[in-house]
Amino acid sequence: METVTTIRAVRERVQAWRRAGARVVFVPTMGNLHAGHVSLIETARRYGERFVASIFVNPMQFGPNEDFAHYPRTPREDEGMLGATGCDLMFMPDVAEIYPHGSERTARVEVPGLSRILEGEFRPGHMEGVTTVVAKLFHIVEPDVAVFGEKDFQQLTVIRRMVAELCMRVEIVGAPTLRETSGLALSSRNQYLTPAERKLAPVIYRTLEAAAARIRAGDADFASIERSGFETLERAGFRPDYFSVRRAEDLGGATAATRTLVILAAARLSRARLIDNVQVMRP
Ligand code: PAF
Repeated sequence: METVTTIRAVRERVQAWRRAGARVVFVPTMGNLHAGHVSLIETARRYGERFVASIFVNPMQFGPNEDFAHYPRTPREDEGMLGATGCDLMFMPDVAEIYPHGSERTARVEVPGLSRILEGEFRPGHMEGVTTVVAKLFHIVEPDVAVFGEKDFQQLTVIRRMVAELCMRVEIVGAPTLRETSGLALSSRNQYLTPAERKLAPVIYRTLEAAAARIRAGDADFASIERSGFETLERAGFRPDYFSVRRAEDLGGATAATRTLVILAAARLSRARLIDNVQVMRP
């Protein structure tokens, strides 16, 4: 695997592969890779012949009081892990390469509506930061396919919408969430948890599964399901931001007629803010 830091180097490599007829698959990440990211690369392998991963902690998607400065950065370990998965190219730009005029003054990409709900309500500007950097990365790499984790379900939905609305030619693939045996979804931010919080954290997934079981059993009182999920998390010691039942397709409000749903939750435990979701089909 080769590591490059410039847009120009990425373009040279990808254009050569394309001339040779290869399909290029891209996995954007913020680094500090774990088994969840490895599974994204493994998914990527099903869709092409050449693989690019980016490692870029994107300042634009962090709020002023969030963890940008402290976000775990482990470039050497990431390089070893990506090399072992068969990735061909690791793109690790610095902030000036992506935002030559600063992230505040960059041209922006926004998906109105979808970006302002759920995460967007509690992390203003976050989704615009994600769509802007992902659009830039797509223009740099020009992949045939890009893979994103379903753990960030809203992110995946917003990116799909951006790609459709802006007629981008990349195909977006969602990869299932990887979990510890406790049910806790793998995330770089799990390392902010204290040992006691680590024991508590799987309650999020258990609460989502309990809500999904109610829906599978035919319960369509979504307001009550949301309330009870939120209160369960509060009682367990979390500070929940939301516990919400939505249409999986577009994150609109679920009604008794909706068949494919997603239940999304975000909750804090001192330093860590955890998000998770469970998809559910109604009978
Ligand atoms: O999911 C992430 O790691 C980031 O939001 C992404 C998609 C790499 C954009 O910075």
